[in-house]
Amino acid sequence: MGFHTFDADRAAKLEDPERYAWVSREELIDAVDPAVDGTVADLGSGTGFYTDDVAPHAGTVYGVDVQAEMNDRYREKGLPENVELVESDVADLPFAAGALDAAFSTMTFHEFADDDAVAELARVVRTDGRLAIFDWSADGGGAAGPPTAERYTLAEATAMLEDAGFEVVHGTTRTETFAVVALAP
Ligand SMILES: C[S@@+](CC[C@H](N)C(=O)[O-])C[C@H]1O[C@@H](n2cnc3c(N)ncnc32)[C@H](O)[C@@H]1O
Repeated sequence: MGFHTFDADRAAKLEDPERYAWVSREELIDAVDPAVDGTVADLGSGTGFYTDDVAPHAGTVYGVDVQAEMNDRYREKGLPENVELVESDVADLPFAAGALDAAFSTMTFHEFADDDAVAELARVVRTDGRLAIFDWSADGGGAAGPPTAERYTLAEATAMLEDAGFEVVHGTTRTETFAVVALAP
């Protein structure tokens, strides 16, 4: 696992539409590029703020979260009919090899990322399937988000993905966040 896990007592903050300042619905869908019949996983889905944005464009979306309380909050909010919640650590997913056409994660890579978790993503995303990661960057100013010492840089995230066999096809650092899109081995 990466750094500390998000406090479920602060779940309501995840529903703030001002979060689109950091990652927009449009850029997320562009990065994930889901197929209408595709199987997608949201890694660390929380209350489903961004899961809900991808769901209308995919076949099945698994909302994966290690905290049962977060899945409960999402259920209380209401699940799109094609979203299934999974209580799991990203490092040990209950999916068959190559079961996912795509996976994405918003503001959570710093909480789950280590070599085991990234290797698990290389296992469950089908060959050439997309992995889209958006997260707070260690190169950011720190005016918003977790402490910069608890974040990865784009270069660190890229190296972790490439070490696991992913082909990184896009990477960019903005003021506080980075975005990386990679194709699975
Ligand atoms: C900062 S919240 C972001 C939630 C959501 N991605 C969003 O942007 O609204 C991080 C979420 O990831 C979950 N999480 C942290 N570590 C995880 C892990 N190793 N496996 C699965 N979920 C994890 C936390 O429980 C929390 O719900």
